[in-house]
Formats: sequence, structure tokens, C-alpha cells
Amino acid sequence: MRAGTRDLLTFAELDASGTSRLLDLAARLKRGAAGGKKAPLAGRTLAMIFQKPSTRTRVSFEVGMHQLGGHAVALAPGDMQLSRGETLGDTARTLSRYADAVLARVFAHSDVEALAAGSSIPVINGLSDAFHPCQTLADLMTVREKKGSGRGGRSLEGLKLAWIGDGNNVCNSLILGCARTGMDVSVAAPKGFEPLEWVVRESREAVRVDVSADPAAAAGGADVVATDTFKSIHNEDAGRLAAFLPRYRVGRRLMGKAKKDAVFMHCLPATRGREVEAAVIDGPQSAVWDEAENRLHSQKALLLALLGPGAPRCGPRRPASAARGGNGKRPA
Ligand code: CP
Repeated sequence: MRAGTRDLLTFAELDASGTSRLLDLAARLKRGAAGGKKAPLAGRTLAMIFQKPSTRTRVSFEVGMHQLGGHAVALAPGDMQLSRGETLGDTARTLSRYADAVLARVFAHSDVEALAAGSSIPVINGLSDAFHPCQTLADLMTVREKKGSGRGGRSLEGLKLAWIGDGNNVCNSLILGCARTGMDVSVAAPKGFEPLEWVVRESREAVRVDVSADPAAAAGGADVVATDTFKSIHNEDAGRLAAFLPRYRVGRRLMGKAKKDAVFMHCLPATRGREVEAAVIDGPQSAVWDEAENRLHSQKALLLALLGPGAPRCGPRRPASAARGGNGKRPA
């Protein structure tokens, strides 16, 4: 993590070397070659707040904590005093007295920021309407495995990732992740569905980031083609599908614009026949099951970095106003 931060809310908290170290550790954990203590998080607890459903995020964090010797407590807002009006700030202060870190899946990004502002322990964003940084860690790990070059396949420099469809929370964090790893990004999104402006602007300082409405141009020569659902738990509006279909569906023809050995990625859950043809997601170029598995390994690396031996001790925070911005805006 960058100096002075111990939360992972967007992906901007990670710099290039921090990202690389996490991915190296994730790869060692996956190989069973991380060494060190058998139960490095013994006695440590992760409090997990889920305002909405999850399969991968919930199970991979819970299993990850278990494998590291720690414990995870899953909390649905309906089971908590949050449902009766207790504030996120008071909830964060209370959890900070019991647990060692908080994972939160929230509707509004400002909610995870409020938790972080009130908390004296690390806060991990398990998906908000604006960012999904844990997904990005797994995605970068997967691209390394499939397309990495150099020593141990650790370099992603010069690769091109095409994002087709909604410039959403997953896309925002992924662009930031690509910028940390030297990967160019080409986004094709309908007008009004582009990624956040500050994410694109800042990432362009490190890599090429193109944003257009043209899926074929975006996919051209790509090493990775990625997409996500067009109708998420944030956006149940049936009308929004008309903006995407059929032009932004990833099918065999669109994959044909990418490099011959390009891989297809999707964070899941997927709707076959909507944002992706079954022939692609279930075909030989699909990396989606490795991508899903890598949630576990990359998040174990994150948990070790935040809570393991040698992790910085938690102390008083900077004032919330100086530490982060609201509503998904660039933190100060
Ligand atoms: N990709 C992802 O976050 O999956 P879940 O919604 O199942 O957690």
C-alpha cells in the first residue's frame, strides 16, 4: 500500500511496486510456496458486511481467512443495528474494538468511505457502485499467469486489455490496476456509460487509455478482452440493456479482432447470450474459472499484507476529509 494508507477502497491506494509485491505473494500462495508461519493470522478476525449478495467475494474471503488461521464473521445489515439507523461511523468504531479488518460490499461508494473514516482498522472495499479493487487484484494475477513475460511471467508491460461494455466499478478499478502494471487499456462503452474521468486521466500518466464507443476498435490487437454484466445489482433498470445490445456483446466475431491467443475475462456472475456468447465464455480462450479462483489467492496476499507479521500497526487516522473524497471522487 502507499505510505499513509491501510485501506483498499479503489485501487489507487496501491502503487506499482506494492501491486507487484502483492501479485508475487499471491502466486507463491497459490503454489503453496509462501513459507513462513502455518497460521499467520491466528487470532485475527475479519468482519464482513454485505449489503447485497455475493458468491465469490464472500466465500473467497471467508475461506482465505480460515486457510491463514484467522476467522471471518459475515454480517448482513438486517442482522445489525445498521438496519435500525445506527450510523456507519458508529458501526465502524464498534467493529474496530473487536475485529482486525473490515470488508464491506456496499451500494454507494460513500458508505465504504464512511466506514473507513470511522474505523481504526483497515477497510477493504468488496465492491461498491464505483470500484471493485479486489477483483482487479485477481484479474491482474490471471493476466500474469496467461500473458506475463519476463522473469517468472511477472511483467505485463506493453500488453493491451480491451474492456467492452459498461465502464463500471470493475472497469474503474481495472484501469487503475492496468496503470500500475504497464498494461494499455482500450474501453468501448456506450455514451453515458464511460469509466470515471479521474480514473482515465490519472491512468493516462502511466499507460495508454483509449475510451470510445467502438467495440471492434477496442478489441483490435488486444491480448485480453474483458466484460461484465450489463445489468448489475446496482442497476436493475431493464431499459439500460438497450444501450448495450447487441453491439457490445462479446462474441466470436469480436474475439476475432483480438490477437489469436487472446484470453477472455469476466468477473462473474455472467449472463450467457447477453454480455457474452456461451461459445466465448465456455470456449478455449476463456480464463474465467482461473480468474474466479484467483480471488482466493490474491485476497490472501492482501490480508497478509494488511494483517500478517510485519504489517503496519493500526493507529489514529488522518481526518476523513483529508484522507478521501466522497462519491467515488478522487481521494485528496
Ligand atoms: N465477481 C464478484 O465480485 O463476484 P460475487 O458478486 O459473487 O462476489
